[in-house]
Amino acid sequence: MHHFTSIHDAYNIPQLVNEALLMKRAPYSDCFIGKNKTIGLLFFNSSLRTRLSTQKAAQNLGMNVMVMNVGADSWQLEMNEGVIMNGDKAEHVSEAAAVIGQYCDIVGLRSFPSLVNREEDYSELVLNQFIKYTGRPILSLESATRHPLQSLTDLITIQEYKKTARPKVVLTWAPHVKALPQCVPNSFAEWMNHADVDFTIAHPKGYELAPEFSGNANICYDPKEAFEGADFIYAKNWSSYEDYGKILNSDPAWMVTMDKMKLTNDAKFMHCLPVRRNVVVEDAVLDSDHSVVIQQAGNRVWAAQTVLKEMLLSLA
Ligand code: CP
Repeated sequence: MHHFTSIHDAYNIPQLVNEALLMKRAPYSDCFIGKNKTIGLLFFNSSLRTRLSTQKAAQNLGMNVMVMNVGADSWQLEMNEGVIMNGDKAEHVSEAAAVIGQYCDIVGLRSFPSLVNREEDYSELVLNQFIKYTGRPILSLESATRHPLQSLTDLITIQEYKKTARPKVVLTWAPHVKALPQCVPNSFAEWMNHADVDFTIAHPKGYELAPEFSGNANICYDPKEAFEGADFIYAKNWSSYEDYGKILNSDPAWMVTMDKMKLTNDAKFMHCLPVRRNVVVEDAVLDSDHSVVIQQAGNRVWAAQTVLKEMLLSLA
């Protein structure tokens, strides 16, 4: 594996999931594989889980880790080519990324979308500029359109908790106070479309994901109907793709409640976190045995460690 920026970089997904579950049982079995290798973790946006789990994963493989909040700790970067740099951006990505590539063997990058210009966001400008200029393998820590380490984690968690060979997995939109990116649902949908699951996406009208991500999923506009017989409920808010970046609906009927969980097949409740209690999901669900959000977040380490091991093996 050279870069890891989407499911398309993972050549054998079931093997990746199995490898992660083995890694979970023996976290230090490859503790020398990253000796004398350095990963730089670059964050344009906030993070708790991605930052700590990737750092821990790299350390478990014996890597050196450097972390930087881009913009806050370093110079503001200009991403576009041919710009007269007389504004507030002091450094161009072409130099900054190339310099980072001198210090690191692998570069992890988190860069959210603007939610203003769909074409620009979906072109993955920042991610692609780093791929172009670092000269190093890039590990996506969530980009403008995808969050592949989260999705691999989600698949690992479903594999661990599933009670039937082909579970019903429901990705349900939920209300939120802010306009959020489509990265997590895009990526989750992309991975579920490749998994052996019965996959439904439930959301109010106007929240359709881009067709290349929703793929063959069943689309449902009624949350109660979607919850019927589900084995996994995966809640997430996202802003509109069609009316790009807009909040079209904040109907609390879409919040995940214990009443709706009763319609399921004793489903596990999943969320990538952070989650707003009693907006996205009510306390009673998060504090019940339905919820596996903490175990899910714990699995971030094994997803990152498995992917990093594959990337290290490809460095030679
Ligand atoms: N789920 C997730 O990516 O969490 P952070 O934003 O805290 O990294």
